[in-house]
Amino acid sequence: MNLILMVPPGSGKGTQAAFLGQRFGIPHISTGDMFREALQQKTELGLKAKGYMEAGQLVPDEVTIGIIRDRLAEPDCEKGFLLDGFPRTVVQAEALKELLKKLNRDLDAAINIEVSRPSLLARMAGRLVCRNCGAAYHAEYGPPQISGICDKCQGEIYQRSDDAGPTVEKRLSVYEAQTAPLIDYYEKQNLLRTISGEQEVQAVFADIVQSLGA
Ligand code: AP5
Ligand code: MG
Repeated sequence: MNLILMVPPGSGKGTQAAFLGQRFGIPHISTGDMFREALQQKTELGLKAKGYMEAGQLVPDEVTIGIIRDRLAEPDCEKGFLLDGFPRTVVQAEALKELLKKLNRDLDAAINIEVSRPSLLARMAGRLVCRNCGAAYHAEYGPPQISGICDKCQGEIYQRSDDAGPTVEKRLSVYEAQTAPLIDYYEKQNLLRTISGEQEVQAVFADIVQSLGA
């Protein structure tokens, strides 16, 4: 199964991707997680991405396309992949099409999870993330059992710096301007699956699986 999740910030793509990756036995590839890890390790990629991420802007296409090209060439992607947060621009979508053509692969679906703006803001404001394994929690809707400690790996839990203040509004407006046009782009290719994200995590997951006919 070759899937992409190209939905607004805070709509639950990371949360759903973790379940979908397990269900279909495919790697969950999040460009945001890759940039955050590079940032933590202070690599060249991390330093390049830092300013853009902190400002809520997109990292330049050529940088992002490069890391996806390398990642899709790894052996674990032979059985399929789930892209979380890529593509985010029409240029990235066209680049993905070319990459897949070279690899002789087709996309199976582009998943769009719809969540209202007030819910997106509430989800980002309360989000808590494990610094070690990346698991997402929410202070109100799904807190960890022990405050500050990840249920899955006992890692330290933190709040993302881009989940606060004006950066959140900026991320939403960047989504509207640069990523929302991909909804039409994939609809025209008959690949779009639109799911309501305004329900419990497990109900969203069940709807996605059903939309894939799996
Ligand atoms: P990225 O990490 O991709 O961030 P994002 O798109 O802003 O998405 P989020 O991770 O914020 O949200 P999510 O949809 O994963 O939601 P989650 O599951 O955590 O990108 C960060 C930055 O990296 C970008 O701003 C950009 O600078 C750069 N970047 C990344 N990719 C790029 C690209 N392709 N090109 C250029 N730049 C790129 O859920 C959110 C919260 O809601 C959690 O607390 C969760 O517990 C809760 N929740 C989830 N589902 C539900 C539910 N059903 N009910 C109640 N609560 C829920
Ligand atoms: Mg995410």
